[in-house]
Amino acid sequence: MATQLSYMTGFGNEFETQALPGALPIGQFSPQKVKYDLYTEQFSSTAFTAPRASNRRTWFYRLRPSVVQGDYQAIDNGLIRTAPITEAVTPPTMLRWNPIDIPSQPTDFIDGLVTMAANGSANGQSGIGIHVYVANQSMQGRYFYNADGEMLFVPQQGELLIHTECGKLSIKPGEIAVIPRGIKFSVDLIDDTARGYICENYGHALELAERGPVGANGYANDRDFQYPVAAFEDKEGDFELVSKFNGNLFSCEIKHSPLDVVAWTGNSAPYKYDLSRFNVMNTVSFDHPDPSIFTVLTSPSATEGMANVDFVIFPPRWMVAENTFRPPYYHRNIMSEFMGLIEGVYDAKEHGFVPGGASLHNCMSPHGPEADVFEKASNAELTPQKYENTLAFMFESRYIISPTKYALEGKERQPNYTDCWRTIKKQFTGSQD
Ligand SMILES: [Fe+2]
Repeated sequence: MATQLSYMTGFGNEFETQALPGALPIGQFSPQKVKYDLYTEQFSSTAFTAPRASNRRTWFYRLRPSVVQGDYQAIDNGLIRTAPITEAVTPPTMLRWNPIDIPSQPTDFIDGLVTMAANGSANGQSGIGIHVYVANQSMQGRYFYNADGEMLFVPQQGELLIHTECGKLSIKPGEIAVIPRGIKFSVDLIDDTARGYICENYGHALELAERGPVGANGYANDRDFQYPVAAFEDKEGDFELVSKFNGNLFSCEIKHSPLDVVAWTGNSAPYKYDLSRFNVMNTVSFDHPDPSIFTVLTSPSATEGMANVDFVIFPPRWMVAENTFRPPYYHRNIMSEFMGLIEGVYDAKEHGFVPGGASLHNCMSPHGPEADVFEKASNAELTPQKYENTLAFMFESRYIISPTKYALEGKERQPNYTDCWRTIKKQFTGSQD
């Protein structure tokens, strides 16, 4: 059964929430004394001087300020990697992976993070890290924050309950969550096991895609984004705070729960979104639109129209195009495309691309429907058809995506992926003369 929590709604709103009455100061942020003797702390996700429309910051009122913690010690990065990836040469080869198995030994969300690829530079605040998580237990006595980027969670199996400084969110497959860079959190498993994908966005915070001539409504609507209400832990004990900072993991001891925010106000906070609320736009005449029409969230780069990363979904929808090859067209693209599958079958790949798996088609590397799909789709009767029980997604980025050594050499890589196109026949019926 899905976890029932309270949320506030509206993408990027200036929220205010308090777990105890009167904890939020009125009319100012930093009074000399705060009710309940709370400490005041500002959390800045953008530079102080970012334009008002893009400025993101939140004020916390908490039991202790965040500086009350031990010293950091470097710990093993496990299979977590950070851009730039230098441990392996990036090939132009089209790549595909089977799902990573849930481990049998006790593994929490942090232990179970496996980096598949990354691009740009975390230090330079551009690009993304792409991870898969596999876990079979909740984080126990430890908390995490990521200074390298915000984290977009795309669950594929198992519900998660995420405790954050701003409150609690639960997400299950078909939903997503975004945790801003630097926000501390811990992850509980609601089900026995969990698997999913993470886009670690080193760049500009994700925002809603423009609608253009579509108008004032449609795609992902602002009102459907949900933010947690304040909820705090007043716990003392021997805990661990894990930090991902400049590509490495560090740990420090902390004698209390850092999730001790009693009240907060601001517009930088974790949020969740149910992908079934995405109002899908598509052709009602002919030709497959570019997949950008399915963009849920985008992280812009400095070049207009070339995203640091677009988060794109391929949800259930009607296909009605006439006189059209309906699956995605064959193409080559300056943008690099990493895909995952949450459930069902993706229309261009009926075999081998399975839920929990992934594929990578890099800058200018050709891709498109496999041979069987081409044959079928070229001869299909073009009646209206509903694509149901399917949910694929793509992280599409302007920067070449470098797979990690594990991704290239691990057992999940499908060595024969490109065979799916080898049997595409020449069908030419003309002649050169
Ligand atoms: Fe593509």
